[in-house]
Parts: sequence; structure tokens; C-alpha cells
Amino acid sequence: MSSLLIIGTQWGDEGKGKLTNYYAAHADMIVRFQGGANAGHTVSVNGSPVVFHLLPSGISVPGVKCVIGAGVVIDPHKLVEEIDKVRPLGIAERENLLIDVGAHLTLEYHRAIEAAQERARGAAAIGTTMRGIGPTYADRTAREGVTMGEMAQFDAFARRVRDIAERKNTLLTKAYDAEPVNVDSMLDGLRELAPRLTPHLADTPSIIREAAASHGNVIFEGAQGTLLDLSFGTYPFVTSSNTSAGGLAPGTGVPPSAIDEVVGVAKAYITRVGAGPFPTESDGDAAEQIRRRGHEHGSTTGRPRRCGWLDTVALRYSIAINGIRRLIITKLDVLDECEEIPVCVAYELDGERVEEFPRSAEALARAVPVYETMPGWLSDTSACREAGQLPQKAIEYLRRVEKLSGASVAAVSVGAAAHAIVHFDHVL
Ligand code: IMP
Repeated sequence: MSSLLIIGTQWGDEGKGKLTNYYAAHADMIVRFQGGANAGHTVSVNGSPVVFHLLPSGISVPGVKCVIGAGVVIDPHKLVEEIDKVRPLGIAERENLLIDVGAHLTLEYHRAIEAAQERARGAAAIGTTMRGIGPTYADRTAREGVTMGEMAQFDAFARRVRDIAERKNTLLTKAYDAEPVNVDSMLDGLRELAPRLTPHLADTPSIIREAAASHGNVIFEGAQGTLLDLSFGTYPFVTSSNTSAGGLAPGTGVPPSAIDEVVGVAKAYITRVGAGPFPTESDGDAAEQIRRRGHEHGSTTGRPRRCGWLDTVALRYSIAINGIRRLIITKLDVLDECEEIPVCVAYELDGERVEEFPRSAEALARAVPVYETMPGWLSDTSACREAGQLPQKAIEYLRRVEKLSGASVAAVSVGAAAHAIVHFDHVL
């Protein structure tokens, strides 16, 4: 029995979805605990790629219970769309998809307010996914949010939503000079969706604790990455939830002591979507090659991802924040054609060499990466399935990453296919 927390160590898009889906074959339950429809992971369902934003990645694996925990914010339209995508396959039925009563709803006015806020920020815009995530979490904190559990008593729910929506319309029209939302049509839409979602409602903390206690394997699936964490990321260029391991307890109702291991996922290079400092960002041919070979376009927004070299200063920081001992390195194959592979080992900041990740976005923006250059392996790793099949120079790259980061590499992913993984060590 094992409870595993899978966490992104970079700015998201590390390939957590693929790994969660892979390990789901050995799991009894997959739990999401933060974020919302800003996340996007492409998984293979019966051989066809399907993008999920809200459904946990293991939803396509028969027999696995999927839980959307209290820390997730749910856009009900998007969730029903995803359930409809997988329903013909007989999955996401009432008994294998549970939604915690305490999860908050992202409604139309959240998206409208976010669009108005991003517009008002002008050049200082965060570059959000426009999925209403920030305003939903802001309402939750301000105790103006609406929970999934409330939806079960629809009339009382509708009265409360109407009351809040009218105040939001005042904000939209008076503060932002934006269009108000149509409250009646929003409520009509919600009335239609409610019977699709309320059968999945559950008081999930006890169900998760029971699964973890009864010799089952439970995977907690992080969304986004540590550098986007609300408290420890590159604020304000972050998302509005705790994407690091600390987000687990408030997002699930499961105590931190229930977790056996936090496994960190890092790409063999690094990407970022949206604005904010990114010391190792590269805009030359190498970055273009990575973008092309790695298909680095956002799965939620389609935006091209900013690409750069592996940053082990940031990686060490993420490892420390999350208590990671083992890493899974993804997309190693994307570097197959690189003659040389720079790895950032420190920064130069105000004329000094620093090895600690700066806590301020402003300082990080001034940090100049100090690189060590590794020779590329210039051979195709995508068919490798055993450590002995990897080129020696790729092994040397991974060993150097271990040395610089202080964590061991348990596995590497070498392609999009579900089984394109080389294990050094089994995490589940
Ligand atoms: P928000 O989460 O939509 O508020 O966006 C805040 C920041 O997080 C923006 O820079 C987004 O691009 C980034 N972000 C949010 N979700 C993801 C994700 O799943 N992958 C990568 N970046 C993300």
C-alpha cells in the first residue's frame, strides 16, 4: 500500500498527467486537490488522445475511483463536457467519479471578472488561462464562494448565486466598465447541469482516508507546478492555489502524515506559459527546436510555451519545498538532437553567484543563469525501455541532474506513448 503525491517541480506542463495515467494501472484511487480547468492533460483513452482539464488523469483506467477534492474549483459546464466525452466508454459513472461537497464552483461572472482584470492590468497582465481561476479562489477566501454541495438544494443555491451575481455585475459595470453577465440565463444553465453533477457529490475525505488505510494505492495528482504556487512561486506570476505538496491537506481533508512519498516531475528542459521571470528562457534556434520536438503549445489555451534549459537552482528549490527524494524526468527524447545541453547550475545576481532561488519575482527577473554545458547524445532514445538501452551520454546527463538537484532519478519518460518510460527504480 502506498500513498503517492505527484508534484510538478517547474512551471507546470511537466507531463504529470501521463505519469498519473501510467501509475493509475496500479492504483485504486486518483485524487485531484487543487486548480481547476486551467490545467490540461492529454491522455490516451482507448488509443485516442483526449484532453482533460478537470477529470483526474486516471479516469480512463477501469476500476480506479477518481476524486475531485475540496481544493479544486469546478467549472460545471467544462466538467459535464468532459464527463460526456468519456461516458460512451462507460467511465465517469456515478460510482467511479466522486466530487467533494466542498469544492467551489467557477461561474460565468468569475470568467468575466478575470477578463476585465487582465485587461485592466495592461502590460502587467499575468497571462492567465482565462478560466476564472483567480476570481473563484478569491471568492472562496472572501467567503463569497459557492460550493458544489450547495447545488444539491437548487432553489436555495440559485437564490444565493443570484445575490452574489448581482453584486459582481455592479463590480463589472461600475469598476471595470465591462458587460454584466445575464444572471437568468446563467441560472437556467446551472439548473440543467445540476442533475448531471449532484449524483457524484460525496463527503470525500473519509472515503480517501479509508482507501489509503485499507492497503490501497492512492495517487494524489498535482496540477500546475511548484513555481506557480500561490505562496512559494514567482508571485504575482502564479496561479491562485497551492500547487506544492502543502496544498494536499487543505485540498483533500487528508492529513500530511497519510502521504508515503512526494515524487517530483521535471522536464529534461523547462517551459513556462504566461508572463513572469524565466532565467533560462532561450529564444534562439535551440528553443525553437525544443518547442517543435516537444510540441510545446498549451493544452488549455493553445499558446506557444516559452522554452529554456533545465534550471537546477529552481529544481533544488522545488525539491526542498515539497520534500522530494525521487524525480521523474520527462521528455528526455526532445533533447535527442541537441549537440550540447546547457544546464543552469547557479545564477549571477548583482555581481554575485547565488545558488538559492530568489523569493522575489523582481530579483529573479535580474538573475543571469550560470551554465554548465553537457555534450548531447545525438541518438534516438524514444524506443528505449530499459536503462541499459539509453546512450551513455544521456545517463551522464541524468547523473549530473541527480548530483546538482540532490534527488535521485526514478524514471525517465522518452515519448508520448503511455509505455515510453525507462524505470531505474519503481515508485509504485
Ligand atoms: P491561471 O491559473 O489561469 O490564473 O493562470 C496563472 C498563471 O498560471 C499563468 O501564467 C498561466 O499560464 C499559468 N498556468 C495555469 N495553469 C497552468 C497549467 O496547467 N500549465 C502551465 N501553466 C499554467
